[in-house]
Amino acid sequence: MAKSTKTIDSTEIRRQIELCGKLREKLRSDERRLLAMVDTYGCQQNEADSEKIRGYLAEMGFGFTQDEFSADIIVVNTCAVREHAEMRVLGNVGALNHTKKARPDQIICVCGCMVQQEHMARKIKMSYPIVDLVFGPHELWRFPELLLEVLVRHKRVFATEKDDGSVAEGIPLRRDGKVKAWLSIMYGCNNFCSYCIVPYVRGRERSRQPEDIVREAEQLVAEGYKDITLLGQNVNSYGKDLDRGVDFADLLRMIDAIPGDFLIRFMTSHPKDATEKLFKTMAECEKCARHLHLPVQSGNDRILKVMNRNYDSATYIKKLELARSYMPDLVVTTDIIVGFPGETDEEFNDTLKLCEKVRFDAMFTFIYSKRVGTPAASMPDPYTREEKQAHFDALTETANRISGEKHREYEGKTVRVLVDGETGRDEYNLSSRTNGGRLVHLKGDPSLIGQFIKVRITASNTWALYGETENG
Ligand code: 5AD
Ligand code: SF4
Repeated sequence: MAKSTKTIDSTEIRRQIELCGKLREKLRSDERRLLAMVDTYGCQQNEADSEKIRGYLAEMGFGFTQDEFSADIIVVNTCAVREHAEMRVLGNVGALNHTKKARPDQIICVCGCMVQQEHMARKIKMSYPIVDLVFGPHELWRFPELLLEVLVRHKRVFATEKDDGSVAEGIPLRRDGKVKAWLSIMYGCNNFCSYCIVPYVRGRERSRQPEDIVREAEQLVAEGYKDITLLGQNVNSYGKDLDRGVDFADLLRMIDAIPGDFLIRFMTSHPKDATEKLFKTMAECEKCARHLHLPVQSGNDRILKVMNRNYDSATYIKKLELARSYMPDLVVTTDIIVGFPGETDEEFNDTLKLCEKVRFDAMFTFIYSKRVGTPAASMPDPYTREEKQAHFDALTETANRISGEKHREYEGKTVRVLVDGETGRDEYNLSSRTNGGRLVHLKGDPSLIGQFIKVRITASNTWALYGETENG
């Protein structure tokens, strides 16, 4: 395996932070604190990227707002996985015409996976003149430099060159909340599932050094975070590019060894790389949540093959049986695509059958969305949107029924949960998660946020459990 991880030198990142100081001087206003709005679409990796963007913006002296009219700078961090997300982004960026008209000095940036696609960068260039800065995921580490260029040269800047990607340490982070934290352990994807745009826009798999990850995890624990989610497109191939003899299971053990009361979660796992060693390690690590998000995508072997998933349905089911033999209480969730080009009624029925067999605790279901440049985009796709929608509805009904049944099994039981926030409603004012990640609504004092407590489950529905604290 090639040792291919490209790293950005730490002096480079220090230079970017210095540029933030320069920007702070340049942007300073004596009248008021300048404000930034960061709008994030898509997956958790994007949320984690937005934390870096906010980190840089905070270094530049910005405060934060959710209101586009009061924002001096707006950063829209986009997603390219499905057309729906792209349409929402384009609609919302188009709507910023109003704010820019009201305040022409406003700076508008669009970044992330969507603009890493050539045709999308071009579209923004031609049709959205209000956008000042466009940069892809590979350029995020030099956001300060790019922004300075916009301000000094008073020109629109586009930084979306093709790149395999790099790893940059030391970018300042600004996390939302004090209980749950994302921790990126690797970037990119090498799998090239035939429907997926991610490998084209996020580049090759690159792992962070284990010491850097452990140091960040220690810091999070010291800051009081209780729920740490390790992020990567396919965490099970962590370390393959590093030549350090540390795989994902080893990394889990290293983080589990950090003293403190906290939970380790991770996503996403590819079934082809989920090993017995991983399941055994999860079972042995007391801080590792009993939750496995293992996207199956389809229950039909022909479809799995044309999706380039590299496993069949029997192997998937066997892997889950193995995982459950180590952790009988394991919560299993999945992603499924319906309406892949050429998927027939019978092939879709295999997916339904697999769901009935596995009984997922929750399923994230999507209608196939054609992505420019992927192999699936040129496959014959004879079925209509209505036919696909009918399959989607049938799958949703199955998913909801099974989730509801699984949730009902919790009723009357006492479970340990981490209270993570307020719901804004009177009756059940707090939200919390079980070790396996199921949502539990509670009534209680907000001072419980950030604490592990025991609750008795009194009611449930498809989406959530409802509970009472043990002492009332
Ligand atoms: N169309 C629909 N769903 C997709 N996903 C990825 N690419 C596509 C696509 N082109 C889904 C997969 C993946 C999840 C993050 O998004 O199920 O696991
Ligand atoms: Fe896309 Fe497949 Fe990589 Fe997941 S594993 S990001 S679905 S190519």
